[in-house]
Amino acid sequence: MDILKQLGIKDENHGACSGSGQWNRTTDSGKLDSINPATGERIASVYQCSKDDYHELVKKSNVAFKDWRKVPAPIRGELVRQMGEALREKKDALGSLVSMEMGKIKQEGDGEVQEMIDIADFAVGQSRMLYGKTMHSERPDHRMYEQWHPLGSIGVISAFNFPVAVWAWNAFIAAIAGDTTIWKPSSSAPLTGIAIQNICNDVMERNGYTGIFSIIVGKGSVIGETLINDKNIPMVSFTGSTAMGRHVSEMVAKRFGKTILELGGNNAIIADETADMDMLVPAVVFGAVGTAGQRCTSTRRVIIHESRYEELTKRLVSAYAQVKIGDPLDEGTLMGPLVDAGAVEVYKNAMKVIAEVGGEVLYGGNVIEGEGYYVEPTIVKAKNEWQIVQDETFAPILYIIPYKTLDEAIEIHNAVPQGLSSAMFTLNVRHAEQFLSARGSDCGIANINIGTSGAEIGGAFGGEKETGGGRESGSDAWKQYMRRQTNTINWSNELPLAQGIKFDI
Ligand code: UN1
Repeated sequence: MDILKQLGIKDENHGACSGSGQWNRTTDSGKLDSINPATGERIASVYQCSKDDYHELVKKSNVAFKDWRKVPAPIRGELVRQMGEALREKKDALGSLVSMEMGKIKQEGDGEVQEMIDIADFAVGQSRMLYGKTMHSERPDHRMYEQWHPLGSIGVISAFNFPVAVWAWNAFIAAIAGDTTIWKPSSSAPLTGIAIQNICNDVMERNGYTGIFSIIVGKGSVIGETLINDKNIPMVSFTGSTAMGRHVSEMVAKRFGKTILELGGNNAIIADETADMDMLVPAVVFGAVGTAGQRCTSTRRVIIHESRYEELTKRLVSAYAQVKIGDPLDEGTLMGPLVDAGAVEVYKNAMKVIAEVGGEVLYGGNVIEGEGYYVEPTIVKAKNEWQIVQDETFAPILYIIPYKTLDEAIEIHNAVPQGLSSAMFTLNVRHAEQFLSARGSDCGIANINIGTSGAEIGGAFGGEKETGGGRESGSDAWKQYMRRQTNTINWSNELPLAQGIKFDI
């Protein structure tokens, strides 16, 4: 296939590389087939890595770090700028590969690559802004300041739903911070990872660097486990389920490593009496149906004022009926398949539970038989307290929950274990401000008249509660990839002690 060729992917690939262009040669740790979820067919395969491959890779990454930390940050930024340029050149092919490998539509595949380019640009600027504070010392002729140093080799474990953008959020910021990265991509999307590593290899080799960006494809139970327990990895950035994130967090904390966790979301839109329906409907459809409901930020609940319930559900049902489901690479398709057969099972089970608890299915609810892993986008009238509504089901199931008062709506909104993204549609400034206030949304992201998904890279991305508390991408997220050092310099001839302590000898 042309796209694979353009991205340097063969029919059989090897799964580990530390940026030298030399891929490992292991063939006895099992082969991983990358499956196109739109057809169920194999795209290409990858030889998975062994523990030995992992240790070798980390050794190289640790060695590369020793030199990389000495490279001035703006020069590190220049390399990331070149990465951004290379991604621009390959955007079309990469976007298509993302679609082919995990099933999001081409528009969203391209959008994901654009997100990588955006964070590259952001990181380039940030490379000249790794600011520390200066403080006034309480002692005469003393100076205090803080500075930021890199951490070392960072582990990035990414999920299938954003197979490349989330890596870029971490790797580009880590790179300008002076860290090297070891990336374990999702086993559902190894080829996009290999394509990105090929780009890294080109850019880094051209500039005479190796080991800055590394990738390792392998089983979570082998490579993932080894990585989270490895004291040579001072920080692990993990994107995935809450259950797995809890395990990662415990293991890494045990060895006093740091984590950035970006786990489950159960994102809601509150729409009040004044909500602009012409904006609300497309926002809900994009949020709930986009990426087939497989974003961490997908809209899972709409909490609607009872006076607008009929109007909203009528309009949503007719909008859903127009959603074109099909090959994610076809123009005009709005919803592709779920990632794999397991995801279809999860959807099926959720629909079973919904029927058992008496959920009223307003639209959809069925698996689409035939080739590929397709399901119908689904709307259900539900009660927030049902366990199935409390859980994050990674599928296009939208729960509609009517409310009477704003206080009640916010209470319902926050009464879930997760806390990633949230939104309110309103034209009432008091309602908007209450939603954004300390007694409003308890999420890491809270929007007004914008849906829950599709955040820009400039803000810090992440959430509270079972979402894990991490923040990636923009704002001051860079600080997590560095260690802070407080420095006090005495340029006087005396040795006064802090807190006025006298200790004469
Ligand atoms: C994710 O689902 O893990 O805000 C990331 C969004 C995207 C990123 C989602 N920019 O929907």
